[in-house]
Amino acid sequence: MADLYNDNPTLDGLKKMDEARQGEVFELPSNEQASKLFYIESYGCQMNFNDSEVVASILAEDGFGPTRNMEVADLILINTCSIREKAEDTVRKRLRIFDKLKEERKGLVVGVLGCMAERLKKKFLEEERLVDLVVGPDAYRDLPNLVASANDGERGVNVLLSREETYADISPLRLDSNGVSAFISIMRGCDNMCSFCVVPFTRGRERSRNAFSIVAEAQDLVNRGYKEVTLLGQNVDSYKWENPEDKSVVDFAQLLEMVALVDPDLRVRFSTSHPKDITDDVLYTMKKYENICKYIHLPVQSGNSRILEKMNRTYDREWYKAKVDRIYEIMPDCAISSDIITGFCSETDEEHQDTISMLEYAQYSMSYMFFYSERPGTLAARKYEDDVPLAVKKERLNEVIRVQNAISLKLNQKDEGKIFKVLIEGDSRKSDQEFKGRNTQNKMLVFPKKEGLQPGDYTWVKVSTASSATLRGEIVDSPNK
Ligand code: 5AD
Ligand code: SF4
Repeated sequence: MADLYNDNPTLDGLKKMDEARQGEVFELPSNEQASKLFYIESYGCQMNFNDSEVVASILAEDGFGPTRNMEVADLILINTCSIREKAEDTVRKRLRIFDKLKEERKGLVVGVLGCMAERLKKKFLEEERLVDLVVGPDAYRDLPNLVASANDGERGVNVLLSREETYADISPLRLDSNGVSAFISIMRGCDNMCSFCVVPFTRGRERSRNAFSIVAEAQDLVNRGYKEVTLLGQNVDSYKWENPEDKSVVDFAQLLEMVALVDPDLRVRFSTSHPKDITDDVLYTMKKYENICKYIHLPVQSGNSRILEKMNRTYDREWYKAKVDRIYEIMPDCAISSDIITGFCSETDEEHQDTISMLEYAQYSMSYMFFYSERPGTLAARKYEDDVPLAVKKERLNEVIRVQNAISLKLNQKDEGKIFKVLIEGDSRKSDQEFKGRNTQNKMLVFPKKEGLQPGDYTWVKVSTASSATLRGEIVDSPNK
């Protein structure tokens, strides 16, 4: 994960800084030369958003241009997420709307992509009568064929998972980009068998992408003016690519270094880290390069060892705490964030309190927080009873959110008076007189504009006030003022 999962109605301010990227309708430039137009919506994690950019590139090769207006599209695609029931419900609602359009417009093709396509396969065509295409995450190269068949009235499914596909040679068409930050997928699939998680079933086996194609993509982005890349994978720390020519192996620490060396002005981020796989080598590489951001998304899921074992996370509470200690020891200025699930099968109140105390221990800058949602086919669904009542799951979630909010606020208040190097991303949400941008710890800063500065520039900002989600401040001339 990845890590944008906006399907939880109880999430509040902590997630606001990332909300804009989630479940959104892409703002696409409409392409006048293209003979046919496609419209795509994406849900779920950053991986999924990046996959949509790969899909856009494949379709562009086939003569399709992107449009932001579904009313004029010849092809409507929805890239879906299965991680929680709520995510799937949202997609079904959108499909009802596309169904209406389809009734009105002959020849309109509607396709379902991504994790839900993979999970439901043919069932999708049976349940959702008006869907024409069902295409899983490893089958996007087949889209032009499937669309052509759909145009001839044949509904198509390709949900084959692959052990090799990484789309390494495809240069993603950057949809709705701010021209400053871009995602680069470095691997696909997941071999961890967390008992709550549907991902291994929807995205298949883990495979790493050719390291040189990753570096080339980063270089190409730099050439086009981008200033920040986020290396994406379900579990980036287990990245391992063997060069078929000389059999040499590139691991994640080495890859990070290769990308950091592309340009000292290019910020490098990555997501998601599984605590069991992040090594000292990775931590020392982060420390060594100023342009590798001091921020680690390190999902704990639960703070209780018995629950962690049931979740099949392969670490326990003490082991995780030692990992957190190690990160702060090597990089005292590093921010850590987390994912939390409340109310997993058989979780007691005391065990839930271990999660609360873990938030305090780890001092997360932010967390993505969810209540447990049973997913068909997962280990937990087969082995354990989903026995924590919904009201209790939600109550525990609210407590987690409250505690995390308080920690975020306290940590942000500690930043008051500090000066940070900020990469300007664009106008703030509320005012075109203000910029927004992030510091290396991934915290969002908002500050009045200054003549001569534009998105993509670095600037120094002195923090004056803090909320749990945002730091506000003023531009200063240097890090010492
Ligand atoms: N229920 C609730 N949350 C889940 N996640 C994954 N599966 C589930 C589930 N069945 C959360 C985890 C993971 C993030 C991507 O989503 O916290 O890290
Ligand atoms: Fe991403 Fe698929 Fe997981 Fe959703 S289910 S978070 S889209 S990998």
